[in-house]
Amino acid sequence: MVQVSPSLLAADFSNLREEIKSVNAAEFLHLDVMDGHFVPNLTIGPCVISSIRSHSDLVFDTHLMIDNPLKYIEPFAKAGSDYITVHAEQPDDITECIRLIESFGKKPGLAISPDTPVSALIPYLDCISMITVMSVYPGFGGQKFIESSYEKIKKISTMITGKNILLSVDGGVDFQNVRKLEEAGVTMVVAGSTVFGHENREEAIRILRGE
Ligand code: DX5
Ligand code: ZN
Repeated sequence: MVQVSPSLLAADFSNLREEIKSVNAAEFLHLDVMDGHFVPNLTIGPCVISSIRSHSDLVFDTHLMIDNPLKYIEPFAKAGSDYITVHAEQPDDITECIRLIESFGKKPGLAISPDTPVSALIPYLDCISMITVMSVYPGFGGQKFIESSYEKIKKISTMITGKNILLSVDGGVDFQNVRKLEEAGVTMVVAGSTVFGHENREEAIRILRGE
């Protein structure tokens, strides 16, 4: 069984409170933060996360698709994130990011974009709590799943055997590919359009989870 992290990016932002409630059956809430530099799109910042924090008991999984996360980890931690994920491709020192995230009592995650090899994760395997394999180029929801992600997931799954690390996949996850992703070794799936595009969110979450 995989855990599910609905990506708020695909929600109706004019009705955030209800949208958040509608995914209560999930384990996590995935919060995509984009800065217009690391990715060619802009989304939410700490204020939105802090406003929605009191309306959800889900574990907040904040995905920082930004350059220089060191500058912004503190406000995202204080806004109520539980996991904070930085990208391997951004310019700041990853170990420093991990330490800073932990200094606020939060769990550090590391994400790799489609062109980044799994070897980029190796130096950090003893100090991260989540790995996010991007199965689309970061920046937008609703993109097509990149098939080569399966091989990366299989390799990482072997690399982290026995370690307490969530292996998550982000981008283009749907009802068709989720079981194959689970077989490849993911323990958590991020899903935007598949959850928020489904009339019955609870049902979508259950299908993704494999119930
Ligand atoms: C893409 C984001 C994803 C996105 C996933 O840059 O990191 O979290 O919201 O959306 P779907 O599930 O629609 O591909
Ligand atoms: Zn994401």
